[in-house]
Amino acid sequence: MAARTKKIGVLTGGGDAPGLNAVIRAVVKTAINDYGWEVLGIEQGFEGLVQPNMVRPLDLVSVRGILSRGGTILGTTNRADPFHYPVEEEGEVQTRDVSQRVVETARVLGLDAVVVIGGDGSMYITHKLMAQGFPAVGVPKTIDNDVRRTQFTFGFDTAVNTAVEALDRLHTTAESHHRVLVMEVMGRDAGWIALQAGIAGDADVILIPEIPYDPACVAEKIRQRYESGANYSIVAVAEGAHRADGEQVYQDKPQPGATPRLGGICEQVAEEIRSETAVVVRTMVLGYLQRGGSPSAFDRLLATRFGVQAVRLIAEDRLGQMVALADDRIVAVPLAEVVGGQKRVPLESDLIDSALALGVCLGAWREDLDAVRHSKEGG
Ligand code: F6P
Repeated sequence: MAARTKKIGVLTGGGDAPGLNAVIRAVVKTAINDYGWEVLGIEQGFEGLVQPNMVRPLDLVSVRGILSRGGTILGTTNRADPFHYPVEEEGEVQTRDVSQRVVETARVLGLDAVVVIGGDGSMYITHKLMAQGFPAVGVPKTIDNDVRRTQFTFGFDTAVNTAVEALDRLHTTAESHHRVLVMEVMGRDAGWIALQAGIAGDADVILIPEIPYDPACVAEKIRQRYESGANYSIVAVAEGAHRADGEQVYQDKPQPGATPRLGGICEQVAEEIRSETAVVVRTMVLGYLQRGGSPSAFDRLLATRFGVQAVRLIAEDRLGQMVALADDRIVAVPLAEVVGGQKRVPLESDLIDSALALGVCLGAWREDLDAVRHSKEGG
């Protein structure tokens, strides 16, 4: 007997990342080509299930030519958490729990499942919605690469490549002017972009949220370079990095229903270097360039593989799972194991080892770092 035709939804939530369109395309093609299902595109993340008239049918024509396109044809937002949904009342923004409305909309639309493409926040929301009867599978996205239980999220590789290109360019101008250039990259709680781009882009100092830094240690590295004849230095700093005796640097005050925006740590680091050395320091924030543009070949492939396997999970009635990359295979992991924290750079990682072996300053004194790393390796 032929399997019943299904109707599925797809949405993209949280900050955008290169490869979102590749997932949407893979989901639509697999659902239609392999199963003959109907697919609805939900606009603006979960917002599209809170507000009326924000869904549209997706067919093979609607996903034509989008594989290489950055952004998301469905739109996204990081201000539509249904459990803390911002509403304006008497001139003030408050948050309300509208999760039941989301579950009800999915039911009224007749959705057998929704493919939620998002980061750790979206996976957390999905997991909680499922407890209320929302049928879903997850696809991990974020340039930060901080979603648990997957080796990589799509979007990360493109962001690292963008950051490496920027660092390469900074090298030539820093060298010409004998300056220190401090480049700030994204990475809220995890320093994957700063660390990988920093190593691949030959940074002399890499500061990540996982290793609170000591400004004296950074300044010492810069001084040593000048003393050894290297008349310029490159510092890569994650936006979420912070001093051992300080806090993360924010651009704005927390708004209801929104995560406060980090930013500005590069200025702080520059000022600290200036106050401890006589060198000229300049800064740049790479910002949204990391999120925009065409996905790398790696991200197109990963996003496509994720999209295809997300549909397979629905076909096998394995809801409540997130597709993930493990040992170069696409696997399924329960959402329950994904939520509740971020995947941060482990200090015992060989990436840290490589950076240290190359003489990169990670913001902490080598003896202190080695002591912590060895205690972790020992269990
Ligand atoms: O989660 C990805 C990310 O790029 C973070 O690194 C960054 O803090 C955040 O998005 C910024 O997002 P937005 O400015 O869109 O709120």
